[in-house]
Amino acid sequence: MVMELKLEGTVVVSGGDRGIGLAISRDCAKAGANVAILYHSHPDAPKNADEISKEFGVKTKAYQCDVSDENAVNQTILAAEKELGSITALAANAGVSVAKPAVELTSEDFHKVFGVNLLGVFNVAKAVARHWIQNGYKKGAVVVTSSMSADIYNSQGLNEPITQLFYNSSKGAVTNMVKGLAAEWAQHGFRVNAVEPGYCDTDMVKGGDPKVLDFQKKSVPLGRFSENYEQSSAAVFLLSDLASYITGSRIRPDGGFTVY
Ligand SMILES: NC(=O)c1ccc[n+]([C@@H]2O[C@H](COP(=O)([O-])OP(=O)(O)OC[C@H]3O[C@@H](n4cnc5c(N)ncnc54)[C@H](OP(=O)(O)O)[C@@H]3O)[C@@H](O)[C@H]2O)c1
Repeated sequence: MVMELKLEGTVVVSGGDRGIGLAISRDCAKAGANVAILYHSHPDAPKNADEISKEFGVKTKAYQCDVSDENAVNQTILAAEKELGSITALAANAGVSVAKPAVELTSEDFHKVFGVNLLGVFNVAKAVARHWIQNGYKKGAVVVTSSMSADIYNSQGLNEPITQLFYNSSKGAVTNMVKGLAAEWAQHGFRVNAVEPGYCDTDMVKGGDPKVLDFQKKSVPLGRFSENYEQSSAAVFLLSDLASYITGSRIRPDGGFTVY
């Protein structure tokens, strides 16, 4: 039997306009779904959505929506369902980081990072799940882009930590939240899982100190950073029927980094 990855209806992808999220948007479109991209402010988002639509012959639209704002999220989910058709799945992927030594971090930094990486994931997941419950939809699937940083503290040299305390703690929290949502929503038939990427060549990582990037690449057993598609393929698998018995789980495409 040939395994075929197909998606139906509309998939919501937060942070779906660039980086790992753009690869998820493309892979969802390739699998046959319409795609509602939620983005913050990048000027290329509408153009990227149009390109996906043309390439794969599906409906795709970019919605400017701050995921940390519950009202904005609720309105956007309603608009996406009306304009693109029934929402069947969510990739809650938007994420941000603030890199500073712990003693310099502020409450503002905390709210920025946890507002997107934890509350933002919750806002979008709650909006789609409430919608599914109201409509009697039983097959909702959610995948959250967490990070291998959920379990480790990253380094930039031997015993030299990268100072991103709120980022790593927000990823630990969101991986735990995935288990809680999976537990609560199993009764409705919804599945909730996490992808925990290792290093990936995106804007979040590019532009760093070349010596640090070289150290990090050498620390990965596979000897390189991942490409965006190597993260999105795991996410789209978890959204598909091929993963119909998987919930509350995590897939960690990290090139073996957390083996040690
Ligand atoms: N790159 C890595 O090595 C790596 C490793 C582990 C985990 N991850 C995780 O993977 C996910 C994607 O990361 P990436 O590297 O692809 O990041 P990226 O290239 O920096 O893109 C971040 C995305 O999040 C969106 N975003 C940020 N704040 C938002 C907000 N308030 N509301 C809505 N959207 C918002 C951005 O929208 P705009 O384009 O409009 O700014 C953008 O689409 C994140 O959750 C990240 O933590 C990345």
